[in-house]
Amino acid sequence: MKKLNVALIGYGRSGCDIHGAFLKSADNDICNVVAVVENDPARAEAAKKDFGCDTYRSYTELLGRRDIDFVVNASYSDLHYPVTKDLLAHGFKVLCEKPLCKTPEMVQDLIDTAKAGNTEFTIFHQYRYNDYYIKMKELLDAGTIGQVKLVRNWQNGFNRRYDWQTLIYRDAGSMRNNAAHYIEEVMCLAGTDEMPKVDSHLAIWNAVGDAEDYVFVVLSYPNGVRYELEVNPSDAFGADEPLFRIYGTRGTMQVYSDHIRLKYFLDSECPQPVLEHRSIHHEDGSPAYCDNHIRWHEETVKLEADAWNAFGKCTNRFYHDWYDHLVKGAELFMKPEHVKVEIAIMCEVERQNPLVQKFTKPDYVI
Ligand SMILES: NC(=O)c1ccc[n+]([C@@H]2O[C@H](COP(=O)([O-])OP(=O)(O)OC[C@H]3O[C@@H](n4cnc5c(N)ncnc54)[C@H](O)[C@@H]3O)[C@@H](O)[C@H]2O)c1
Repeated sequence: MKKLNVALIGYGRSGCDIHGAFLKSADNDICNVVAVVENDPARAEAAKKDFGCDTYRSYTELLGRRDIDFVVNASYSDLHYPVTKDLLAHGFKVLCEKPLCKTPEMVQDLIDTAKAGNTEFTIFHQYRYNDYYIKMKELLDAGTIGQVKLVRNWQNGFNRRYDWQTLIYRDAGSMRNNAAHYIEEVMCLAGTDEMPKVDSHLAIWNAVGDAEDYVFVVLSYPNGVRYELEVNPSDAFGADEPLFRIYGTRGTMQVYSDHIRLKYFLDSECPQPVLEHRSIHHEDGSPAYCDNHIRWHEETVKLEADAWNAFGKCTNRFYHDWYDHLVKGAELFMKPEHVKVEIAIMCEVERQNPLVQKFTKPDYVI
């Protein structure tokens, strides 16, 4: 099989532990890492050891190379836009980490730049390749819990972050870093790229930077379905929460990364109740409450997944589909136009919750 030559920018938690982990693995039968751009000498050394590839301090050193099939931009979030734009302008194909950029106008600029350079890019939103998402979507589409009315999503834990992901000047914070994945998933559950009504709350609870670590976003779509997403850094019982709890007219679904619990009834076994305007009574004449005599069905669907498989299985699936797109002309999985709406939703949340920037980039930081 033809292998594609890849250059990685950034060899940190994403570049090394997510992209690098896949690229080093036996599952990678499609790419060769030919260059890593990393300005931290120790991280560059680690990349050289892992891949035996060229290493550079600046991505501009890639621009003269003609042997690179695509570049992975896993640098700091605020560098995604300028670096991706420059790479596209030089004709490179780019797989950019999330968040792609700050505003929908910037997304459009990247789309236009790619078009002008006769090239293309995608965004590394890999979560929809999770087994839980694929199965959850299948069960919802089959109507197992009836008509969906409310979808709740949690990403809770007890966290006191102190890294760059707490800084506004880095385009960081828990919405663009964490909630972004689930906003993207929810847009697909809603089945539309139209802009929903947004109600939200952002706050800083435990993080030491100036970007939010508490996020609550409600997305309401014209079909009446409401999606609630929370990132809560003060939830010491967060591990008990499912990823999703979904409420339908015939039951409820709880979605975990390694299993899905369903409790539902069948219309055939539980006829629609008939409206009664008078007080209701038992057969003996005593007062009664509504009793639908629901015959519940309970199921647990086990998933062939680790407790958290986003970083292994999903990366493998994402890269293989991206490869099929580039080499065999298959449809692009993560389209920039779709991500443009995700970014517009995040901008609306920030408009509703202006935070004050307290920190600027020190000289010793790139
Ligand atoms: N899709 C996911 O599941 C996922 C998971 C983690 C991180 N991310 C994203 O990946 C990006 C990187 O995050 P991280 O957690 O890996 O950060 P990190 O701090 O662990 O790593 C970033 C690395 O990039 C290097 N770097 C940054 N800018 C550079 C530049 N211009 N030139 C050369 N080297 C540069 C840094 O020295 C560092 O080693 C972020 O945008 C983050 O949102 C995505």
